[in-house]
Amino acid sequence: MKVQGLELTEIAQEYGTPLYVYDGEKISTQIQNLKKGFAKAPLKIKYATKALTNVSILKLMRSQGVGVDAVSIEEVKLCMMAGYPANEIMYTPNCVGFSEIQEAVELGAMINLDNLVMLREFGKTYGDKIPVAIRINPHIMAGGNSKISVGHIHSKFGISIHQQEEIMEVVNEFSIQVNGLHVHTGSDILDAAVFLRGAQVLFDMAMNFPNLKFLDFGGGFKVAYKPDDVQTDIFKVGEEVSEAFNAFCEKYGRQLELWLEPGKYLVSEAGYLLVEANVVKETPEITFVGVNSGLNHLIRPMLYDAYHQVENISARPSSALKKYNIVGYICETDTLAADRMLPEVNSGDILAIKNAGAYSFSMASNYNSRVKPAEVLIWNGEAALVRKREVFEDLLRNQVVLDF
Ligand code: LLP
Repeated sequence: MKVQGLELTEIAQEYGTPLYVYDGEKISTQIQNLKKGFAKAPLKIKYATKALTNVSILKLMRSQGVGVDAVSIEEVKLCMMAGYPANEIMYTPNCVGFSEIQEAVELGAMINLDNLVMLREFGKTYGDKIPVAIRINPHIMAGGNSKISVGHIHSKFGISIHQQEEIMEVVNEFSIQVNGLHVHTGSDILDAAVFLRGAQVLFDMAMNFPNLKFLDFGGGFKVAYKPDDVQTDIFKVGEEVSEAFNAFCEKYGRQLELWLEPGKYLVSEAGYLLVEANVVKETPEITFVGVNSGLNHLIRPMLYDAYHQVENISARPSSALKKYNIVGYICETDTLAADRMLPEVNSGDILAIKNAGAYSFSMASNYNSRVKPAEVLIWNGEAALVRKREVFEDLLRNQVVLDF
């Protein structure tokens, strides 16, 4: 299997496994598609950095004219390290304390608040001096599964559309300058109509805010995980949402920017987690392939029952297909992929787990005292190490070892 002409097995040999490999060209293609889809609107893309925060990836995004959305003060700082001016970084935290919000203000980031308590505190502290965006919970149930559906009435995110009166009270009391309205209903959303409904919620509210600069429709576009998966038709969504947006702006004489915050759409398919088969274990029921990775490096199958396609990239062309469960080396039932037909796997073979660009490294842990893998970025046909593999000493780095 090749990425930009480079054999992944050779990359695995050079950098070792487990290894995340990112295809910069795929990221660039996704950016171009998004721009084409929304070509008719004054689009600003704010990459949801939580999906994959490697600073080289952030720099690549920046070189492609893509902005950023950060969810924590640490992500804000990483974006700044990537060269983003603070005032181009959107900071969209959830349930953080006010001191972190203040720190983001002091750094100069744009602020997006999602609860009335912090909005009031913000108003009290900054009045009309620092503009702020507001994240609305539109009460739309959407998303690939319940854990990644965040726009419904029981979700902790956003300020409920039913609390518009309270929002206006706080905004008026402190003369808060609201520069943006924001919705994000969830991840893995296929249905174009959901994005339109989200947008409509913001159009309905926008009249209350004369100083708006942008409407932010969040992320959540579904990408293909299975070979035959249907993905969000970005051109249909782009066309419909842009049209509605332009019609709104025209009707009410507003000059606004349309913001999007994709994570998965930009980086999911660009990533491969390369792992090595340690053991092929026959049992009366199942043939397991135990690999040198696990839920510590890819937790999505366990957390969301996510499907990640697996290929045996070391397979000999004539190998017969056999059914396997691909499992990790963690002391948990970390089934990365079940009931997969793969060309015969032998120990030492390299497997490529696909869609490991988004929420893979960024959700990795050191569980079972395993180190985190290295990351490699392929750009212009060349592979470059963008994060070293952790070593044993990294596990001890912050431990304070007492004498007994
Ligand atoms: N904007 C906001 C405010 C978000 O909370 C998120 C994702 C995004 C944008 C980007 O969503 P995306 O385009 O990547 O779907 N770990 C889960 C996904 C959690 C998403 C959290 N928020 C997964 O691996 O499926």
